[in-house]
Amino acid sequence: MRFSLSFVTLGLAAVEFALALPKGYQQPGRRSSVNILDDVLVFDAPAFDDPANPGNSLVQLQAYVSTREVSIAPLVSGIGSLLDKTIGLNISEDIGRATDRLALFATLGLSGKDVTVNVDGCGNPASLPATATGGMAIQNVTMGACASTEAVGTVNLTSLDSRTLNFKIFPSSPDGFGVISDIDDTVKISHSLDKLLLAKATLIDDPVPVTGMPEVYKSLATSLNSPAFFYVSASPFQLYPFLRAFINTTYADSNGPIFLKNLTTTSLSDITDFVQSDGIFEYKSAMIDRIQGMYPAKKFLTVGDSTQKDPETYGEAIRKYGDFIACAWIRKVDGANNTDERFAEAFAGVSPSKFKLYTDDEIPSLADIDVAGGSCS
Ligand SMILES: *[C@@H]1O[C@H](CO)[C@@H](O)[C@H](O)[C@H]1NC(C)=O
Ligand SMILES: *[C@@H]1O[C@H](CO)[C@@H](O)[C@H](O)[C@H]1NC(C)=O
Ligand SMILES: *[C@@H]1O[C@H](CO)[C@@H](O)[C@H](O)[C@H]1NC(C)=O
Ligand SMILES: *[C@@H]1O[C@H](CO)[C@@H](O)[C@H](O)[C@H]1NC(C)=O
Ligand SMILES: *[C@@H]1O[C@H](CO)[C@@H](O)[C@H](O)[C@H]1NC(C)=O
Ligand SMILES: *[C@@H]1O[C@H](CO)[C@@H](O)[C@H](O)[C@H]1NC(C)=O
Repeated sequence: MRFSLSFVTLGLAAVEFALALPKGYQQPGRRSSVNILDDVLVFDAPAFDDPANPGNSLVQLQAYVSTREVSIAPLVSGIGSLLDKTIGLNISEDIGRATDRLALFATLGLSGKDVTVNVDGCGNPASLPATATGGMAIQNVTMGACASTEAVGTVNLTSLDSRTLNFKIFPSSPDGFGVISDIDDTVKISHSLDKLLLAKATLIDDPVPVTGMPEVYKSLATSLNSPAFFYVSASPFQLYPFLRAFINTTYADSNGPIFLKNLTTTSLSDITDFVQSDGIFEYKSAMIDRIQGMYPAKKFLTVGDSTQKDPETYGEAIRKYGDFIACAWIRKVDGANNTDERFAEAFAGVSPSKFKLYTDDEIPSLADIDVAGGSCS
């Protein structure tokens, strides 16, 4: 079914259901540590050699501190009604699952919160600067010398608090290879081009990998000698638990940090976009800059698809950074703009030997490409 979605309808419905969103309240003016009433999410984090302090690691740590979930029922019911009105999706049979997936949208970020962590395998504990408005804190923290393999970190909580809040760190050497991968419609079928199927894939269905990609990434993990994998997606960070569980299980051999977009929820229609398309080129380019800052001497394979702005983003990254991007692979998704004209524009000035456009039939053969030896196709 093709439907046309009127922004007026969506806008009106959003106003009607805005009451379902959690309301902000006065933030405490002073700093405080995480307490038993707060929720803390520490994202899996990359670790890299501290250029100013050889032998020591920096961890690019990001945390979100919020109220524990408030008023999820009105939020889910608001979203359910919005989806029903705009795209005819009835989620009432799958309310439990939708509620799980939407849980973080029903939290309120808390500012002024201090998060301290310990990592097994690193020398020192580390603290983030107090969370900003919106509840986020991000900083390179020094943790002394860290082991060179994946390690588990823990958030320090008060003695009354019996929760265990874990995250992973992924250290990688300054040189060698890395992989920067999109998620939606590159490694996971999300149907970004179809609002109805996108909503189902995000809220209800078991996540489905793009056929053959887990095997391709597993083979890259070997052929590129344990590269640093980064997953960069324009989905809102509130979907992190869902996406992380998927990558961790389905892409277990190519696990890595997941960078998602900050979304401060202002309307239900923002939430039901699921894959944010505004400013996506700028956001993804900024994430590539962020990775380049940590690993300027690595070479990266970038993998994406033709639904949104991956060709444009990766083309620009090659023009900007040259050999830092070894190669760009783009999955041609049915229904997206797959015209020669588009790819010629996206990769203008880039040697054809630096990128490959592939169809689903070609996915198994990606594993045979000698990326380590300098080939891209
Ligand atoms: C959605 O489905 C439920 C259960 O199948 C049904 O009771 C309800 O009336 C449906 N809602 C709408 C708006 O169609
Ligand atoms: C998210 O928000 C934090 C805190 O405001 C900010 O430091 C960080 O740069 C933002 N991240 C992105 C990807 O915009
Ligand atoms: C964090 O926990 C560790 C071990 O439980 C402890 O040694 C350390 O003092 C704590 N740090 C802070 C800042 O609370
Ligand atoms: C990741 O997978 C491992 C092994 O399969 C499992 O023990 C762990 O709980 C998973 N973590 C998450 C966040 O799904
Ligand atoms: C972390 O370090 C990298 C590499 O030095 C730098 O590019 C980046 O701006 C730093 N990030 C923060 C949040 O300080
Ligand atoms: C495809 O992209 C090209 C280049 O940006 C653009 O000129 C063309 O209009 C697009 N075609 C469609 C069908 O959107």
